[in-house]
Amino acid sequence: MTVMTGNAAENNSSRVIVLGNEKGGTGKTTLAIHLLLGLQANGARVAAIDLDGRVGGFSRFLKNREAWAKNSRQNIYTPPFFTVSASQDNDINKREQEEFAGFAGAVEKLEHISDYLILDLPSGDTYLGRLAHSMADILITPINDGFLDVNVLGDVDNVDYSVNGINPYGQYVMDCLARRKNIDGSGFDWLLVKNRVSSLGAKHKQKVDKALTNLADKLGATIASNIGDRVIFRELYAMGLSVFDVLDRQTGVKATASHNEAKREILDLIEFINR
Ligand SMILES: Nc1ncnc2c1ncn2[C@@H]1O[C@H](COP(=O)(O)OP(=O)(O)OP(=O)(O)O)[C@@H](O)[C@H]1O
Ligand SMILES: [Mg+2]
Repeated sequence: MTVMTGNAAENNSSRVIVLGNEKGGTGKTTLAIHLLLGLQANGARVAAIDLDGRVGGFSRFLKNREAWAKNSRQNIYTPPFFTVSASQDNDINKREQEEFAGFAGAVEKLEHISDYLILDLPSGDTYLGRLAHSMADILITPINDGFLDVNVLGDVDNVDYSVNGINPYGQYVMDCLARRKNIDGSGFDWLLVKNRVSSLGAKHKQKVDKALTNLADKLGATIASNIGDRVIFRELYAMGLSVFDVLDRQTGVKATASHNEAKREILDLIEFINR
């Protein structure tokens, strides 16, 4: 992992996976949760930082998990985590100082006790988001399967799907990559993950895939394996559980074939990350 602040870089060992997309509602928190627990199920030491403290979806899930572990008395692993919220200070310098201190403090406490550190970002362009992008080893950008989401990265021709221009978030990540390469030659692996993919609309999917392939090429990103639109990815949230936990009578959710497919999708993504 490389932490960067201006020109300073510091090396240490855990791999930092950042879930980032300036567009909201694409599945950052959902994938953060499932990657965290999928990696843990694979035997890795995992830890989490919720940088979207105002919404707090990632940390709320982990608190739900702690409560479930306590009340159910099941042997459930509860990963260590921190929540970092945006500062409310009116002075921009003080705001950034406060956010940097919260961020660096959380990283410092977790980096030596985890093999993977999962960072969930808020949508929009934020200082905490920029800090996280600057230290990613792997950036995962979930994209819903449609042009509204694809166009956040760049504009594509509506006939041949060639790339007409790169949009702000795509450009921002490209600049980040270039900066990292300049500073220490490290860069990061940028993975685009199509999320909430349904089994319907094959024609539309082909068009989106063409556009995304062309865009990934221009952006220096890689298209990873897909994640389907599955109720199980949201059904267990309130209990702080996932498809990687034992779903017995206490959970009120019966394991189905779709659960195994959901598990497989997350494990495939983990395999892709570690390829
Ligand atoms: N693969 C999936 N299958 C089913 N539902 C999903 C899936 N991925 C995300 N969702 C649902 O889509 C909604 C948005 O997902 P999520 O909150 O993870 O996105 P986000 O990118 O973190 O949003 P924000 O930008 O607001 O933080 C949630 O209701 C979530 O339960
Ligand atoms: Mg979120």
